Amino acid sequence: MLKAGKTKFQIDLRRYLREDGVDDRLTHLICEVAEASKYIVNSIRTGDLGVAGTSNLYGEEQLALDVLADRILRKRLAKSGVVSNVASEETRDVIAVSPHCAGNFSVAFDPLDGSSLVDVNLAVGTIVSVFPGSDLLQAGQRQVAALYILYGPRTTLVYTTGNGVHEFGMNQLMEYTLLRRNIRLEPKAVIYSPGGLRKRYTSGVREFVDHLEERGAKLRYSGGLVPDVNQVLMKRSGVFFYPHLQGAPQGKLRLLFELNPMALLMEQAGGAASNGRQRILELQPGAIDECQPFFCGCRDDVTRAEELIVNREQPPAPG
Ligand code: AHG
Ligand code: MN
Ligand code: MN
Repeated sequence: MLKAGKTKFQIDLRRYLREDGVDDRLTHLICEVAEASKYIVNSIRTGDLGVAGTSNLYGEEQLALDVLADRILRKRLAKSGVVSNVASEETRDVIAVSPHCAGNFSVAFDPLDGSSLVDVNLAVGTIVSVFPGSDLLQAGQRQVAALYILYGPRTTLVYTTGNGVHEFGMNQLMEYTLLRRNIRLEPKAVIYSPGGLRKRYTSGVREFVDHLEERGAKLRYSGGLVPDVNQVLMKRSGVFFYPHLQGAPQGKLRLLFELNPMALLMEQAGGAASNGRQRILELQPGAIDECQPFFCGCRDDVTRAEELIVNREQPPAPG
């Protein structure tokens, strides 16, 4: 695996996508998302944005970061010329941005995941899921690309188009250059990232935590899905979960905007992603805001979580 600083020259994102055999239109789409991230990272870093309800120097209503990131990304996708429909975690419905692009792609995105962490200066991210055609309510295994941008001490972009998982870093010219390619997970986790209130865990999930602790796995949880999942991938060993909880059988995370893209990345890195009983990528969404419990990372540990949940717990009530 190539590590940072080991390449004779920097391979930029567009070139790598082409060499990776990615279709020109999809390459263009991924590069447009990369372009949008430059404006999003600036809006996070410059701090010239108050919270919603205040006004800027020009008397315009100040935009919360979620809303601004949503606007930046949606505009880019609409102008890309290859996107027909979009759905954002920040808007209620699917939006037809360019109906004449029906044969190209549709995109579901979380413009700024973990935005409440910006105030305490923790890492946040943008998550993007790309489907062929105009239908966004397809099972996640139909995605043609999944990517996230992580706004941390460094800004990095991690993508898959079904041919492995690859990481890029934003350099001083705000270009993305290759850091790691074909990231692969080990079978067992050395870290675990447990979301949700511990006191509301069900019996199978509690036993899963005991199983990890007994093996000496270390707890690493920031409260941001993108940095927490990124840590599992870049350490090449770990498990992240935001489970079903007593009183919240569907958990908290959203299938279209968060789970499908993260699940594709995890599987492409040789890991697994499950709702505790079923592969995330096989789930047929019923609505764009559907939530599902989430367990992802090292294959052996995700399998262990499923075994404990299926054997110790009643299946969720239908509907
Ligand atoms: P978003 O900011 O897009 O609403 O997502 C936040 C999510 C995700 O980042 C994280 O895994 C989860 O919220 C953390 O939830 P808790 O605060 O309940 O731990
Ligand atoms: Mn989110
Ligand atoms: Mn969000």
